[in-house]
Amino acid sequence: MKRSDRRIHFGGDYYPEQWPEEVWAEDTRLMKEAGVTMVTAGVFAWAQVEPRPGDFDFGWFDRVMDNLAQAGLRVCLATMTASPPPWLTRLHPEILPETEDGRRKWPGGRQHYCPSSPVYREYATRLVEQVAGRYAQHPALEVWHVGNEYGCHIRQCFCDVSAADFRRWLGERYGTVGALNEAWSTAFWSQRYDSFDEVLPPRLAPTFANPSQQLDYWRFSDDALRQCFLAETEVLRRVTPDVPVTTNLMPHHKPVDAFEWARHQDVMSLDFYQDPHDPDTHLSAAYNFDLMRSARGGQPWLLLEQAPSAVNWRPRNGPKPPGAMRLWSWQAVAQGADAIMYFQWRQSRGGAEKFHSAMLPHGGTGTRIHREVSDLGRELGSVPEIAGTRSRADAALLTDWNSWWALELDSRPSTALDQALINRAHHRALFDAGVACDVLPPSSELSGYKLVVVPNLYLLGEDDARRLAQYVEGGGQLLVSFFSGIVDGCDRVHLGGYPAPLRELLGLRVEEFWPLDEGVSVPVEGVDPGGPLGAPGTEGDLWSEAVELEGAEAVAVFRGGELAGRPAVTRHAYGAGTAWYIGTRLHRAAMRGLMDQVRQAAGVGPVLAGLPEGVQATVREDDEHRFLFLLNHGDEDAVVELPEPMRDRLGPYGTDRVTAVTLPPRGVAVMEH
Ligand code: GLA
Repeated sequence: MKRSDRRIHFGGDYYPEQWPEEVWAEDTRLMKEAGVTMVTAGVFAWAQVEPRPGDFDFGWFDRVMDNLAQAGLRVCLATMTASPPPWLTRLHPEILPETEDGRRKWPGGRQHYCPSSPVYREYATRLVEQVAGRYAQHPALEVWHVGNEYGCHIRQCFCDVSAADFRRWLGERYGTVGALNEAWSTAFWSQRYDSFDEVLPPRLAPTFANPSQQLDYWRFSDDALRQCFLAETEVLRRVTPDVPVTTNLMPHHKPVDAFEWARHQDVMSLDFYQDPHDPDTHLSAAYNFDLMRSARGGQPWLLLEQAPSAVNWRPRNGPKPPGAMRLWSWQAVAQGADAIMYFQWRQSRGGAEKFHSAMLPHGGTGTRIHREVSDLGRELGSVPEIAGTRSRADAALLTDWNSWWALELDSRPSTALDQALINRAHHRALFDAGVACDVLPPSSELSGYKLVVVPNLYLLGEDDARRLAQYVEGGGQLLVSFFSGIVDGCDRVHLGGYPAPLRELLGLRVEEFWPLDEGVSVPVEGVDPGGPLGAPGTEGDLWSEAVELEGAEAVAVFRGGELAGRPAVTRHAYGAGTAWYIGTRLHRAAMRGLMDQVRQAAGVGPVLAGLPEGVQATVREDDEHRFLFLLNHGDEDAVVELPEPMRDRLGPYGTDRVTAVTLPPRGVAVMEH
């Protein structure tokens, strides 16, 4: 985004096509009053701008753009390809996607296209040529919004078009069918292929489909979605080389490898819908916001969608209580966002999302939602210098989509392992301690971090394993959790004793996996009774394993069950650093205790010492400014002592410098040094 007009952008999805044209002038007037600076437009406009094949009608959209420009508003302009119009699927029903059991997904909703379809891509790029050419010079154009939430409804398609594309993709990946047979271990169950022509997607089979084939299908499907994105992006970069390109990713979104997609975008953007029914919603947000910020090396990102209040798509959809939307919006800014946007501006009258909240509700401007939205718009507008500032972290959490896809396949020791939950449990132990954390892929440069946390990295290549060893050798503190380093990139076990590529580094061997039944916990006891795992009642669940020490020392042992007396947590001095290992899922307090011990060994402290329970603190800074964000996610008033007298940029303390602030529940303070 352009540095010249430095500000935190504020606004939302705008669908003027749902309303008579007389309403549009009121829209821009009210947007200005609410502090809106940018809207996302055109996301679902395909059927209106191309009502018949090749017959383009942009007149109405020109007026929308001009109206916005006249009001001084910027546009995050969609490529309009997110939902094919009815004529396209009538003309080409072969673009419709199919499920793994061969059922077709019909039009009538949205995103009903096979990502591999050359026909869909051809019509989509033809439209993008029109949109890009027409609005290239438009004064309102700020950033391109390609597609919409790729993989939201169609994660994988199993149709014949996809099958042919998969065979092509495999040919490029493996070269020969012999290499494919080797990679997929097809000597098992008579699965040997004699030619690529025999290969199919992992469609519904009588029993477990080949796991390597399933893993490759995740990779292929991610790539097919990305090719749709790239086909459109190619047009945009050619026609408007200076306009940044983004696409709105979803949180914890398994079909789309955010790190890989980050390489092809100019700015990352995320849609995050906090759940007011979930007391931990800010923790899930914290993890995803850290990932967004880290994916492009700390560059500010855009919160492109959130709900002003209720959504319509959970089983129950209560509103956000007063102050929650403000708190969670500031949380995004505190964790690196340079835009706070909503779905959507004006609440729909009809259609599937009419009960989804909007910045301008059915009840109009005299509503709590509209007041809270407008107040936030003004507030964000009062601190424009935040835009472009960055944060730094001493801790990194590593995760990898390939490993995620492989971890959650069928036919493993436990099907209860959930990568997103596991990652969040580790992230939470840092979050609760007030520690800043980046979320990165294992191929990252790690030497700048004092602490690296690796939750369940089941699939791990030799190179990445070596990188971890070098990191520890050089003095790093590494914390690895169970069932890591088990298979290679083809889901083949690394031979030589689990986890073979990490054995020397961790100083141990895992002889057997002992996954635990749901609801079953095993007592765990710290070897040092005064240490963090020494508290009575410490437990692990989900997983346990038979660890044999080969140089590591036990930090805690199992105190019950078949593994009583065997190590549950270990530590191994390696080079100038230490590699820690957890062989179970520690309950929250124990996990926090262990993480504190590890991070203290690493010399990693919180952003602000002495932070009250429930308060999040982050720093964003540049050469001129240093902002301290304080957010009270707890239920009680919290008094935060500041490290030095600071100026309150949002309000209650006026312009005087203060040395402490009191935050009510859901309170926010933006302090400046
Ligand atoms: C997603 C989509 C939007 C809308 C919202 C509703 O984020 O991108 O078009 O459907 O969900 O929450």
